[in-house]
Amino acid sequence: MNAKVLSDLAYLTSAFLFIIGLKFLSHPARARRGNWLAVLGMAFAIVATFIFLWSGGAPERGMLIIAGIVIGGLLGTVGARWVPITDMPQMVALLNGCGGGAAALISTVEFVGGKSGDSVGFGSAIFGAVVGSLAFWGSLVAFGKLQGWMERAITSPFQKLLNVLLVLGLTVIIVWVAAGGGHTALYALLTVSMLLGILMVIPIGGADMPVVISLLNSFTGLAVAATGFALNQPALIISGTLVGASGTLLTLMMCRAMNRSLANVLFAGVGAGPVAAPGTAAAGGPAKTVREISPEDTAVLLGNIQSLIIIPGYGMAVAQAQHIVRELADMLALRGVEVKYAVHPVAGRMPGHMNVLLAEANVPYDQLYDLDQINPDFERADVALVIGANDVVNPAARTDKSSPIYGMPILDADKAKHIIVIKRSLNPGFAGIDNALYYDPKTYMLFGDAKGAVGKLVEALKVV
Ligand code: TAP
Repeated sequence: MNAKVLSDLAYLTSAFLFIIGLKFLSHPARARRGNWLAVLGMAFAIVATFIFLWSGGAPERGMLIIAGIVIGGLLGTVGARWVPITDMPQMVALLNGCGGGAAALISTVEFVGGKSGDSVGFGSAIFGAVVGSLAFWGSLVAFGKLQGWMERAITSPFQKLLNVLLVLGLTVIIVWVAAGGGHTALYALLTVSMLLGILMVIPIGGADMPVVISLLNSFTGLAVAATGFALNQPALIISGTLVGASGTLLTLMMCRAMNRSLANVLFAGVGAGPVAAPGTAAAGGPAKTVREISPEDTAVLLGNIQSLIIIPGYGMAVAQAQHIVRELADMLALRGVEVKYAVHPVAGRMPGHMNVLLAEANVPYDQLYDLDQINPDFERADVALVIGANDVVNPAARTDKSSPIYGMPILDADKAKHIIVIKRSLNPGFAGIDNALYYDPKTYMLFGDAKGAVGKLVEALKVV
């Protein structure tokens, strides 16, 4: 078999593995296997590339690829081991930016080297350069925001006008490049794409960052696919298209989960307002009060119920309380309590965050329920136990039109017979707003770090 056929077969195998891997990722029980299949697919793509280089008589380029793999592999491994799971969104933003930046660089090199050839090659190189650099710079801003280095949402009345002007400028520059504007035109193109990427993400804040990252992820995929066309590289075309398509779908699904349009996410500047002071009374109204409960009293309450719905949120992730939460759930299940976990699609800080943590603690998958499945059950639940969640149970999303999370579907914790909220204070969550659930007469606040508080609860339950 000749080397070209061998390399094509390896690319085909890698494409097949990417697709099956992606399919497996759609269920928590198979997600780990899906990841490994995708890793195997990548290995096939690398092998295919080496066979391709070897058959094309350019083995010296292989050394450059090996150097890239070693440096990238080391940085990736250190990053993945060192970064805590709660900082994963930042890491994803950075990795995504690297993908977009790489696509933009390759397109630029193709262009500068005069290899973009026919109109398909030209169009792909321009698309890869523009969308890749947009994704790169946008991801860097998203990283800065998630890391807390930048204001969450910086808005200005001229923001939309500026974006429109930049898009118009971009169109003019593309014509300039096509008309033979050379390197100057190309650098102008990259500069305007950079400005557009930065200015597109700067006004976005609050609860909208996950959607932005997913959107930028799809941009990176599309840029990589375009680069694949420019290089005539099937692995890039296939993997880029998969990332582009899945990123776009995830973006739309998250918008739906928040009941928002993509335009609203991108242009409404949600989250630009001041962070609410907890417990502030409406003008002239009575001061809001909460009812506190001790771990011991909570244990007595939980020891006498039949059904419990646990709602995990970002605080459970920070406290790494998933293992002790499962211990609590197991103890109650042994006493005959029906225990369910309600998983909100944007609880935590990344898609699937709660699923990952609960899977890590070996919570059985049949105890996990998503929003649509579990909401009808709250009315019958004796207790909704909210552990480090806030925005995803905030009733303001249903009623307060001025709230930045208005319209976002929430878990109906307030419909349970009793609500117990475990968190350290009355401080707001990601969206920066107060939560009426805490002042609900049916709610008890168990203040403390999630891991410590649930630990005390487990101890107290042993003697109830
Ligand atoms: P949040 O609304 O962010 O609330 C988390 C709560 O956890 C805080 O109010 C905090 O209160 C508490 N907390 C922090 N550390 C704790 C600890 N050690 N022990 C106990 N509690 C602790 O979380 P959520 O309800 O999961 O909602 C997620 C929010 O993040 C949404 O607005 C969502 O749109 C946004 N977001 C989601 C994603 C994805 S894709 N999931 C990505 C980025 C942003 P105290 O300080 O009082 O303890």
